[in-house]
Amino acid sequence: MTCTASPKGYAAARETAACAAEKDPLRYRAGAGNQGWRMSDLTPSHILQIGMGFFASKTLLSAIELKLFTALARSPMTAAEIARNLALNERAVPDFPDALVALGLLERTGNGPEARYANTPEGALFLDANSPAYVGGILEMANARLYRFWADLTEALKTGKPQNETKHSGEPMFAKLYEVPERLEQFMNAMSGISAGNFRAFAEKFDFSAYRTLCDVGGATGQLSCMVAAAQPHMSCTSFDLPNVVPIATRRIAQAGLSDRVKAVGGDFFADPLPSADVITMGMILHDWNLEKKKRLIAKAYEALPEGGAFVVIEALIDDERRKNAFGLLMSLNMLIEFGDAFDYTGADFAGWCREAGFRRFAVIPLAGPSSAAVAYK
Ligand SMILES: C[S@@+](CC[C@H](N)C(=O)[O-])C[C@H]1O[C@@H](n2cnc3c(N)ncnc32)[C@H](O)[C@@H]1O
Repeated sequence: MTCTASPKGYAAARETAACAAEKDPLRYRAGAGNQGWRMSDLTPSHILQIGMGFFASKTLLSAIELKLFTALARSPMTAAEIARNLALNERAVPDFPDALVALGLLERTGNGPEARYANTPEGALFLDANSPAYVGGILEMANARLYRFWADLTEALKTGKPQNETKHSGEPMFAKLYEVPERLEQFMNAMSGISAGNFRAFAEKFDFSAYRTLCDVGGATGQLSCMVAAAQPHMSCTSFDLPNVVPIATRRIAQAGLSDRVKAVGGDFFADPLPSADVITMGMILHDWNLEKKKRLIAKAYEALPEGGAFVVIEALIDDERRKNAFGLLMSLNMLIEFGDAFDYTGADFAGWCREAGFRRFAVIPLAGPSSAAVAYK
């Protein structure tokens, strides 16, 4: 290749990588995907922000573990009061609350020792454990379980094996997780936290006018069923989950005052037929399993639906080109950590598997943040 002309200004930045590298190999990198931008145009800030992201993540997770946001909901505090209230070493302040201020997770009035820290509006709504909109359950579980398991991501990438409580025993994930009642309760709260926004959006956005009954398969606390029943007074719902989850769901349904139209039923979705209903929902269920088991569950949903019935999955659905939904892709890596062969998927994947099972029409409804409902109509 001969690089004779010397383009000026903006054009210089657009030289091909090969040409630029030939002229000035120290300033240009001709790697795959490099379009010949000057190295001086580039900064490492995105790389470093992601690479050191665990600093910020663990600071929030510790604040949740220490119930800082719940304490601040009672009253704003100085740094010394925070340390006393949360039984922290004096070295922890003011760095810990100031870091949360800089991360946009706390507000501070004033400077110095007299400054008072308070929750942001989002913190007050979503991170105070006494708020009905509390989503901290997922962060409590991230702190207690996932944060440590993700330290073994490299091992998971090399072996394809789970890195959680089942790592050494090879036991089935849910049996192992649920053998400790506190862990079962923690997992249920985690699911409520991560799913609340999606289920609320689904209950409001989906067209239920042609339907009367819904069965939420793997319904955990009965949250989706309760939200649909509350938003759609003509709907009756069944929350179907493993028998040891049923008492928790029954309790939460009663607390919501919806026992007349929502019931919790125990069973095993692989061993038992699914309860028949006009709408079958599965919130973050298919992503827990490998392809063969995903297809078995899809076939069971098809069997349990009437003609015209709707099968709905609610997941952090990956975009079809697998480029944009970073949360969905990272959730799929989390499924590697938790289950090994389980994985998240795209709307196109879902439509393809459902078409094989006999479903005829498909739609995707965006829900909260990176999640969507994918719908297959029988
Ligand atoms: C990832 S959680 C999802 C919970 C809820 N659908 C949500 O999206 O928040 C998976 C759920 O599937 C349930 N589950 C796992 N294996 C099951 C089985 N064989 N039969 C019935 N439910 C099962 C678990 O108990 C758990 O509640």
